[in-house]
Amino acid sequence: MRRLKFSNNDEMPAFGLGTWKSAEGDVYNAVKTAIKNGYRHIDCAAAYGNENEVGKALKEVIEEGVVKREDLWVTSKLWCNMHAKEDVIIALNKTLSDLQLEYLDLYLIHWPVAQKKEIPFVSKGEDFISLEELPNELTWQGMEKAVELGLTKHIGVSNFGPKALQDLIASAKIKPEMNQVESHPYFQQEDMLSFCKEHGIHVTAYSPLGSSDRPDKFKTENEPRLLQDPVIFEIAASKNVTPGQVLISWALHRGTAVIPKSVNPGRIAQNFEAQTVELSESDMNNIASLNKNHRYLSGEHWLYEGSSYTLESIWR
Ligand code: A2P
Repeated sequence: MRRLKFSNNDEMPAFGLGTWKSAEGDVYNAVKTAIKNGYRHIDCAAAYGNENEVGKALKEVIEEGVVKREDLWVTSKLWCNMHAKEDVIIALNKTLSDLQLEYLDLYLIHWPVAQKKEIPFVSKGEDFISLEELPNELTWQGMEKAVELGLTKHIGVSNFGPKALQDLIASAKIKPEMNQVESHPYFQQEDMLSFCKEHGIHVTAYSPLGSSDRPDKFKTENEPRLLQDPVIFEIAASKNVTPGQVLISWALHRGTAVIPKSVNPGRIAQNFEAQTVELSESDMNNIASLNKNHRYLSGEHWLYEGSSYTLESIWR
C-alpha cells in the first residue's frame, strides 16, 4: 500500500474510497465492504449528504474489531455555507457527530467559494458571499483552530488553484498539506502537481474514473469517455486487468492519492487490487499523451448572474 508522508510523519494511505454520489442506502454497505477488503482511507464530505451512514459503517467495523480507529484515515470537507471563521468548528463538530468519530485525519475547505449560512445549496447570485467579504484566509483561521482543538490532525483544501493556494500559504500559521483536485489522464494537472510538490503539499486525485455517474447538471454534451479510451483499454488488455484498474494505478504511479468511488462489491474489490498493477515507463508515457485538459467538473454549476464568482476566479 503506497503512503503519503506528512511533515509530522503521519502517513496517509494513497488509495482510498470516494463517497461522492454514493446514495444513502448504498454507502453503508460500500464502506463496510471496502474496509473488509483492506481499504484504510475513506474520503467524505458534509455536502455529500451521507456522512451519517458512513459513520454507522465506521462504528460497526471498529466495534466488530475489523479495524482500529487509528489504522483508518478519514477525510472530510467543510461546505461553502460554513466559511465564517466561527462556523468552521460548528461544521466540523457536526461532521464528527455524523461520522461517529472523535477526530478527523484530514479536513479540507471543499471549494474556494463562500455562500450564505442559511443557504446550503445556491440557486441564485445573491446566495453567495464574495471572497472580498469572506476571504479564504479567514476560513483558514477556523481550520487552524480545529487543529489546535485536536478535532482534526491535518488541514488542507480542495479545488484550489495555484494563486488561491499561494495567498493562503502567505497568511497561514499552519500550511495547507493537501489539495484535492480533479485529476485523470484527460485532465492531468501537471502544473498543479509541480506547484504542490514545490510547496510540500500532497495532491489527491478525484474523479479518477471520469465520474460518469455525476448528476446531469454537472455534465456537458459529448464528453470524452475515459473508461473507454483505446490506449487505456489496450494497456489493460495487455496486463489482463480492467481499464478502471489502469486509471487507479496511473494515479498512484504519479505520487498522488486517489479515491475511486464505487458502491458495487465487485468493483470495490477490483479497485483495491489496482494497487498491485505495475505500469512501465512506456505505459506512463502513452497515458501522458492522452491529456486533453478536459475537466469533467467544469465549475459551471457555480455560475449565477449577480454573483462575483467566475470560472477564472474559482480556478485561479
Ligand atoms: P459503481 O459505484 O456502480 O461501481 P469516479 O470515482 O471517477 O467518480 O467514478 C465513479 C463511477 O465509476 C461510478 O459510476 C462507479 O460505479 C464507476 N466505477 C467504479 N469503479 C469502477 C471500475 N473499476 N470500472 C468501471 N467503473 C467503475
